[in-house]
Amino acid sequence: MSTRWPEIYVWPAGEAARLIYRGEEPVGFVLFPPRSSRKSPADGHCIVRFMIDHRFQGQGIGRHGLRAAVDWIARERGVDRVRLSVVPENTPARSLYRSEGFTETGEIDHGEIVMVKTLSRSVVPDQ
Ligand SMILES: CC(C)(COP(=O)(O)OP(=O)(O)OC[C@H]1O[C@@H](n2cnc3c(N)ncnc32)[C@H](O)[C@@H]1OP(=O)(O)O)[C@@H](O)C(=O)NCCC(=O)NCCS
Repeated sequence: MSTRWPEIYVWPAGEAARLIYRGEEPVGFVLFPPRSSRKSPADGHCIVRFMIDHRFQGQGIGRHGLRAAVDWIARERGVDRVRLSVVPENTPARSLYRSEGFTETGEIDHGEIVMVKTLSRSVVPDQ
């Protein structure tokens, strides 16, 4: 009898996945919404997924990767707020986001706590 795997697929269409590197080595990834997303820029732009390979966690890469992701989206999309969401039980991520200046908005999106960071003007490029 063959093993039944969950479906294996590529997702999502149109979103921008970027790898996070330490030097030459890929250590994680970040997923941004498509440029045309209706949620930007009025609601601030989103980090849809953010993940550090488990082999590289706990070394400060998440913090620096998050800063790089926020800088990237500010530069590429010209936004002054960045939104993301996190499951309430994810203590490491909530702690990281809080310590990087994200605050909880009080909104719950699909069971996840929505957090926003307002960027200083110096990070946001001229339009
Ligand atoms: C959350 C995640 C991105 C953190 O990445 P990381 O490289 O391990 O984080 P860092 O080493 O840079 O640590 C940054 C901060 O995260 C928090 N943190 C990291 N690991 C933690 C843990 N095990 N428990 C509590 N807080 C933790 C701390 O606030 C830490 O700051 P400190 O070292 O000054 O205490 C990583 O654990 C991950 O990819 N997890 C799986 C995917 C995920 O949960 N992504 C977020 C979805 S919203």
